[in-house]
Amino acid sequence: MSYRVLVLHGPSLNMLGQREPAIYGSTTLKDINARLEAYANAHNTTIVAQQTNHEGMLIDWLHSAVDTYDGVVLNPGAYTHTSVAIRDAIAATGLPVVECHLSNIHAREPFRHTSLIAPACLGQISGFGWRSYILALDALLGHLRARDQNNS
Ligand code: DQA
Repeated sequence: MSYRVLVLHGPSLNMLGQREPAIYGSTTLKDINARLEAYANAHNTTIVAQQTNHEGMLIDWLHSAVDTYDGVVLNPGAYTHTSVAIRDAIAATGLPVVECHLSNIHAREPFRHTSLIAPACLGQISGFGWRSYILALDALLGHLRARDQNNS
């Protein structure tokens, strides 16, 4: 099976490389997307990666992923901790979504310990720097393969 995966990066992730490198590392978003692309190509998968600083844009992209993508890797940035709207959008799509964070949100400030989107997601990967994205994509592909094998 080949799969199509949408990768969504939320606010301030366009600043990776220069944004708080002690927390987020020095890898740029462009590099992360290139590494994801290489991993996807090696695993019979097509990815499209998009970044926005706007909550509504993330919601629009999630909605339009239905019928176009098999699943989503989503780092909602700070919206993780505030957005009922993104949580509801994920639930509305019915798509498998893996929540992804570079930093370990549970080891940081208390306001980051709660993810409002987690209950609507397949699972959460947090704390492995840029590798969180590869792990999240791998987890999503494992889920899709298992689902499709069980249905065949
Ligand atoms: C983040 C963690 C969030 O708490 C923070 O607001 C971000 C990045 C991460 O990838 O570690 O913007 O999602």
